[in-house]
Amino acid sequence: MKSTLPPSHPPIPQSSNPQVPVSDCRRVRRQPSESKSLNIGCLDLPTRLATWHLRCLRSTAGYPSARKSAFSGGPFVARILSISSLAPGVSRLWLDAPPIAKKRQPGQFVILRIDEQGERIPLTIADVDVARGAISVIVQAVGKSTRQLCAMHGGDDVLDVVGPLGLPTHIGEREQVCCVGGGIGTAVVYPIARGVKDKGGKVVAIIGGRSKDLVILEQELRQIADDVIVTTDDGSYGRKGLVTHALQDLIEKGHAFDNVVAVGPIRMMQAVCDLTRPLKLRTTVSLNPVMVDGTGMCGGCRVTVGGQQKFVCVDGPEFDGHEVNFAELAARLEAYRDQERASMERMQQMSAVGMEAW
Ligand SMILES: Cc1cc2nc3c(=O)[nH]c(=O)nc-3n(C[C@H](O)[C@H](O)[C@H](O)COP(=O)(O)OP(=O)(O)OC[C@H]3O[C@@H](n4cnc5c(N)ncnc54)[C@H](O)[C@@H]3O)c2cc1C
Ligand code: FES
Repeated sequence: MKSTLPPSHPPIPQSSNPQVPVSDCRRVRRQPSESKSLNIGCLDLPTRLATWHLRCLRSTAGYPSARKSAFSGGPFVARILSISSLAPGVSRLWLDAPPIAKKRQPGQFVILRIDEQGERIPLTIADVDVARGAISVIVQAVGKSTRQLCAMHGGDDVLDVVGPLGLPTHIGEREQVCCVGGGIGTAVVYPIARGVKDKGGKVVAIIGGRSKDLVILEQELRQIADDVIVTTDDGSYGRKGLVTHALQDLIEKGHAFDNVVAVGPIRMMQAVCDLTRPLKLRTTVSLNPVMVDGTGMCGGCRVTVGGQQKFVCVDGPEFDGHEVNFAELAARLEAYRDQERASMERMQQMSAVGMEAW
């Protein structure tokens, strides 16, 4: 598989973290003594639970045995090798994480934390460079943690990263797949499109954004997909309209797909499913609820699929879109809106007075 890590990314810098021996800063597993030094008693309940679960996850105790072999361990300190802007508010990071790069499959994600106070950020593994032991994540700065991450620099360390998490995308041999990506969802369909091509299949990609500057990964997808259709809401680039309009056209023109993979805002995924359901056209969506521990134990990421309760971190993140209760997912994502807004405001106020905001 061809890598997209810039061949001339800067040499891996020396560690800035005094706890990380300079000689071994390329791949550092946190030492047990470091974990013990965390003052667990001072942390709030979700953080304590999450810390405990991460320890379980690290030892793979409590992790379903079928998945142990795919899980590389962690948490690891991970160095940012390079960071670049793909669009306003969207950055691509390459992280030094050899064990994850080695085991990752399309559809999987990592959970990372920037520092001790930071929340856990789930991010899809958009690309890997196995030879260099690097993984790439594409991040949209929507709130405090993602803004903080996008403001970091090459050479900085993130406190910990665990993965690969989640079940890999199920990709059959020589399938015809339509990959539909809305906004940052394109970063999630991109590795799936690569996976389909690796299995000898055909890919038509439909990618959309509100305007031209928000369309991402077009060139990368053109290198692997058989066709790429770009849509913009305002018509500033490609076809004016929504990704669903382009999908409807393809279907009406007689394109026969084995699967449609749709990833983006909930309303977009729901609209794609509404289009494909009457046609009984298999449709896969990748869900993005709030996550805490990533082990299936905290319940934070629960969704209802086919009337059953599922945990996105271990049963997903991909599900049959025709079975997902999107209304419930949207409501659960809304639930923390006030806290998220307060967190952003606090960060902005502290930045305004020149204080360290994180
Ligand atoms: C399996 C998985 C894979 C993901 N992959 C990516 C990825 O590749 N790139 C990427 O940029 N993001 C991805 N996300 C979403 C990302 O984790 C969230 O955007 C991030 O956690 C928000 O943190 P924050 O503190 O910056 O924002 P917050 O302050 O927590 O939230 C700010 C705003 O973003 C919304 N928001 C919060 N969490 C989510 C979420 N999970 N999905 C959608 N909106 C949310 C909130 O409603 C709020 O309006 C993924 C999520 C999951 C569960
Ligand atoms: S994040 Fe805790 S159950 Fe999925």
